[in-house]
Amino acid sequence: MKNPVRVTITGAAGQIGYQLAFRIASGQMFGQNQPIILQLLEITPALPALNGVVMELEDCAFSTLNDVIATDDANTAFKDSEYAILVGAMPRGPGMERNDLLQANAKIFTHQGKAINDNANKEIRVLVVGNPANTNALIASSNAPNIDPQNFTAMTRLDHNRAIAHLSKKLNVSSQNIKKMIIWGNHSATQYPDVDHVTVDDTSIKDQISDDWLKSDFIPAIQQRGAEIIKARGASSAASAASAAIDHMHDWVLGSAENNWVSMGVFSDGSYGIKPGIIYSFPVRCSQGSYEIIQDLSLTEFSQERMRVTEKELREERTAIEELL
Ligand code: NAD
Ligand code: LMR
Repeated sequence: MKNPVRVTITGAAGQIGYQLAFRIASGQMFGQNQPIILQLLEITPALPALNGVVMELEDCAFSTLNDVIATDDANTAFKDSEYAILVGAMPRGPGMERNDLLQANAKIFTHQGKAINDNANKEIRVLVVGNPANTNALIASSNAPNIDPQNFTAMTRLDHNRAIAHLSKKLNVSSQNIKKMIIWGNHSATQYPDVDHVTVDDTSIKDQISDDWLKSDFIPAIQQRGAEIIKARGASSAASAASAAIDHMHDWVLGSAENNWVSMGVFSDGSYGIKPGIIYSFPVRCSQGSYEIIQDLSLTEFSQERMRVTEKELREERTAIEELL
């Protein structure tokens, strides 16, 4: 067994938090040899519910769970934390776009960015799930000047997984054979799910799908999947979101698979002409806790145009919260 690592989950009594806490505690994120100390943050009125989560965690008797700290104080929740999944935020309801949440949720990420800066391990790796995830990650990072901005990421892995699942159905192949999917840009309706580089068994899928299917079925289906789930469930995705968060952190820390890549919202470094200053989803390869943006992919004019649309939306979100940066 290794030394235990401290993992913070915010919004831990909410829908996603309730899934995440148990999966992380049972070793599904970092493996069976990695003991975990969970540091769970909630708002004060949710502390009784959080206490229920703690009791259930105890009752699982997970061998990988060393300790649980439950608190409504962000400084305590981020104390010495090495990994943080920032979920606690308001979810959208029917008819809303994710960036309608920007003003309501922005303050949370200002406050938590500062608490991370003041308390966390300086190497902490942060995944922002709460929407609008890309811009919330930008806010949190800007308020944590002592932490490397590269250590702040936003979740587009759910979109990535959704795209793979949709292709798997269409092509009638197992999802594990679908490689090199890309989500570009914002975790929003402007995101661009790009299949141009996707392979199955090292062969391009381009001659198996039509342009018409891509434009009128696939792309809108992935862009609108979150809204479809809200319509069906009356609440936003939770189990699939927690699963994607586990995938994101697992791959970031333990490495992404050979001959493949994953999508992560990361600070733009100017790759593919996306100007710095926003958190944008790129294809990345991960190894031992770092990632690099995949370079030199050829892009069609259609792709470039879609990538600019989602970049523009992220710039507008940035302008809307500029005073918090
Ligand atoms: P939820 O309402 O069930 O849970 C949110 C929890 O956060 C609540 O328990 C609430 O008390 C808590 N909370 C609120 N403010 C907090 C704060 N300042 N500090 C700590 N905790 C706080 O919502 P949910 O379904 O779990 O969704 C959470 C967020 O995740 C939403 O913003 C949702 O839109 C987003 N989301 C993102 C993705 C993605 O792919 N990036 C996917 C699904 C959901
Ligand atoms: C999702 O994609 O399911 C989440 O971002 C929740 C939402 O608001 O759609």
